[in-house]
Amino acid sequence: MMYEKELNMTAKVDHSKRRLLIAATAGVGGMAALGISTPFVLSLTPSERAKAAGAPIEVDISALQEGAMMSVEWQGKPVWIVRRSAEMLALLGKHEGDLADPASSVQQQPDYCMNPTRSIKPEVLVVLGICTHLGCSPTFRPEVAPGDLGGNWAGGWFCPCHGSRFDLAARVFKGVPAPTNLIIPPHKYLSDTRLLIGDDSKEGTV
Ligand code: FES
Repeated sequence: MMYEKELNMTAKVDHSKRRLLIAATAGVGGMAALGISTPFVLSLTPSERAKAAGAPIEVDISALQEGAMMSVEWQGKPVWIVRRSAEMLALLGKHEGDLADPASSVQQQPDYCMNPTRSIKPEVLVVLGICTHLGCSPTFRPEVAPGDLGGNWAGGWFCPCHGSRFDLAARVFKGVPAPTNLIIPPHKYLSDTRLLIGDDSKEGTV
């Protein structure tokens, strides 16, 4: 798989006099858990290890700031979590005519995320960080109208491999190689600040 891990990616952007922080909180919950669990994982049988690798992961998003993104790993893939600001959410409705699938009619998300924000809570987006073209990992570009992406850019992801573009609901723009929106994985809230990625059963939800 061609995607690159973006754990611990930190960047600061200052456009239109606003600052958006790409969090250095990568894997806050997941990384902490990894450190403690390694001896446990090594003690497992191969089949138990395979099961653990596909298991849901719990993520603490309490430190995730508005406008920021964190990345965790689930089933060997990057999962991005973005806390969108009111300004970011307002911009989502302004470019629907430029999107290939603005209503998310292709099944790239669970039913409960088939809505204009593609999320359970409008402000928190959870999405697989793998381009639907050939599997690269797109770059988070939350700033508005940067010089290299054009005056109509309202924030989103840009895939450097072949130029695919996605908005801040991870919906693909028309005219790029990626055929569909990015995938929203199954997930649920265990509390206001704790997410479980990989499990959307009703048990334990708030
Ligand atoms: S892999 Fe993203 S545009 Fe080709």
